[in-house]
Amino acid sequence: MENLINIKGVRHAYQTDAGPLPVLDGLEIGVPEGGFVAVVGPSGCGKSTLTRLVAGLMKPDHGEVWLHGERVKGPRSTVGMAFQNPVLLEWRTILKNVLLPLEIVPSKLSKKEAEDRARFLLSLVGLDGFEDKRPSELSGGMRQRASLCRALIHQPEVLILDEPFGALDAFTREDLWQTMHKVKEREPFTGVLITHDLRESIFLADQVVVLSGRPARTQYVLDIPRKSAPTLDDLYTPEAAEQLNILRHQIQVAQGRAPEGTT
Ligand SMILES: Nc1ncnc2c1ncn2[C@@H]1O[C@H](COP(=O)(O)OP(=O)(O)OP(=O)(O)O)[C@@H](O)[C@H]1O
Ligand SMILES: [Mg+2]
Repeated sequence: MENLINIKGVRHAYQTDAGPLPVLDGLEIGVPEGGFVAVVGPSGCGKSTLTRLVAGLMKPDHGEVWLHGERVKGPRSTVGMAFQNPVLLEWRTILKNVLLPLEIVPSKLSKKEAEDRARFLLSLVGLDGFEDKRPSELSGGMRQRASLCRALIHQPEVLILDEPFGALDAFTREDLWQTMHKVKEREPFTGVLITHDLRESIFLADQVVVLSGRPARTQYVLDIPRKSAPTLDDLYTPEAAEQLNILRHQIQVAQGRAPEGTT
């Protein structure tokens, strides 16, 4: 099947005062329509850079990024993004924050339809009753839920999540993982998730891509076969332990702490 996202031979270096800093070097990632790929790798290896390339916020020096058979040349409303620190505007209500992207890039929805959609999304992530609150009145987990709704308001084909749950405590994070599965069932998208949490990667994604240290290349790809949404108990099965073991080892290789090929 043709991939919806295709990252082919991507190389990129930032120009810094100290000279070029090679960040990505030979990245190959393909995500089929409806697929959910988690990208893990050492800190600073270029994961956020990768999200900027897929979102069209930057162009790579070499190689190509394709979305739905079209070369990515700039930002588009069919890509939604959410980050570790949800930047919500304090002077707007939660509902108005979720609606914000529609003011920047208008959609075909009428004002009423847009508001209904925002309310639907907020209720999908468990935020009914908080529509008229301000961001500071919400917990960190709730703010992240609202930011997810904002990323989904345009009904994006592609959802890019850059460590969205990284700042949350473990229990809140697990709640949000389950919410993510619920959201994906109701609002299908093709996803790229950047994370440092290997359990998160195997719980949410159907494929985990391990990047090498900087400059990052695709070092290892692990498929996570899945028939239906997992439960948290599935993280404690021998299969999950095996997957986590493989990934932990690959991260050590990426960090230069274990030779490739050993287990
Ligand atoms: N605009 C920029 N100009 C120069 N260097 C940059 C720029 N953005 C990022 N870098 C550098 O590029 C490297 C990769 O950055 P990036 O943010 O993509 O890494 P990351 O894998 O997301 O890291 P982390 O896991 O800590 O979030 C880092 O060394 C960073 O300092
Ligand atoms: Mg990053």
